[in-house]
Amino acid sequence: MQGKEADPKDFPQLKNDTFLRAARGEETQHVPVWCMRQAGRYLPEFRESRAGKDFFETCRSPEACCELTLQPLRRFSFDAAIIFSDILVVPQAMGMDVQMVPGKGPTFPDPLKDPEDLQRLRVKVDVNTELGYVFRAITLTRHKLEGKVPLIGFTGAPWTLMSYMIEGGGSNTHSKAKRWLYQHPEASHMLLRMLTDVIVEYLLGQVAAGAQALQVFESHAGILGPAEFKEFSLLYLRDIARRVKDKLKEDGQDVPMIVFAKDAHYGVEDLSQSHYEVVGLDWTIDPRSARERTGGKVSLQGNMDPCALYAPKERISDIVHKMLEGFGTRGYIANLGHGLYPDMDPEHVGAFVQAVHKHSKQMIEQ
Ligand code: CP3
Repeated sequence: MQGKEADPKDFPQLKNDTFLRAARGEETQHVPVWCMRQAGRYLPEFRESRAGKDFFETCRSPEACCELTLQPLRRFSFDAAIIFSDILVVPQAMGMDVQMVPGKGPTFPDPLKDPEDLQRLRVKVDVNTELGYVFRAITLTRHKLEGKVPLIGFTGAPWTLMSYMIEGGGSNTHSKAKRWLYQHPEASHMLLRMLTDVIVEYLLGQVAAGAQALQVFESHAGILGPAEFKEFSLLYLRDIARRVKDKLKEDGQDVPMIVFAKDAHYGVEDLSQSHYEVVGLDWTIDPRSARERTGGKVSLQGNMDPCALYAPKERISDIVHKMLEGFGTRGYIANLGHGLYPDMDPEHVGAFVQAVHKHSKQMIEQ
């Protein structure tokens, strides 16, 4: 990567701003659509590019991240791109070893066991040094997108990252991480604050590198009850949005932020009052009730059950139509309620995107 493509300025002019307009609640000619994990193993070209290469090595190559980000856009008329990376690059930046074990998923060989283990983490993380490769991937991709659609940057939220750092990988109960919340609340807050500080700098670095929107993934929200969610998740989600927005405002910038707290039904009202422009929803919430409960204060994103993509294409079209009727076409970004799975048929993803565009155009023109 050299010259102009390494420079986070003079980016090509944006041709399709539908996603950004919808995030801000402005009028659009169709409902924008993208999919969580749109770059992924369901695409044969993704499997080919990734074959034989270590996952986090791939994450550290700006050229590879750029190529994987662009792949789904060559097939489908998505209205946004999301940078190919992973939420677990943040624990790595803090000094933890994380491996992606094929067939098992992310694995920390040496997870945090007790509060004393916090001493193993870097106290001050220089995001430019530790995560500069993500920033370079964003800058390169923003140039290579040629203004086709906006580029979304992202991070994991503090609680989700904390749970990985303590569990050492995926978990059904998250009981090791939750034990900390009940046995070591002070150390838990200390870790969550450390993560928050890194995340704020990381998101600001992504914007400086060229990210045009930001999504915060609280993928493990649902394992918390309402009280624990408020104390150990929401507080930090709010702090992140407030600090990122304040800093961007100082610089005269305005970048929409999306919060996706999976399975946090009980938190939807609170999340809509947390300084994010967009609340992302999983499929277990009814679109109409989500609208009622968020009172038109924010835009909404989601929420088709990813497994609905296993349905025949005509049925996908009907499900999309109902979803659009539920959410309405204003202040709405169509997406799945979580990521695509590796065994999904790319043609059905195409049918989903087409159905969103077709039905929403008809509804808006009426
Ligand atoms: O297209 C996109 O959405 C952008 C890329 C993206 C990836 N991971 C690429 C990836 C994003 C946004 C993520 C976020 C992420 N990573 C989350 C939050 C979103 C969510 O799913 O709730 C989480 C929890 C992770 C941690 C993680 N990374 C898991 C659980 C896995 C799956 C492991 C497995 O074996 O299936 C990963 C690996 C991963 N991250 C893949 C991709 C495309 C698949 C593995 C591969 O390419 O080899």
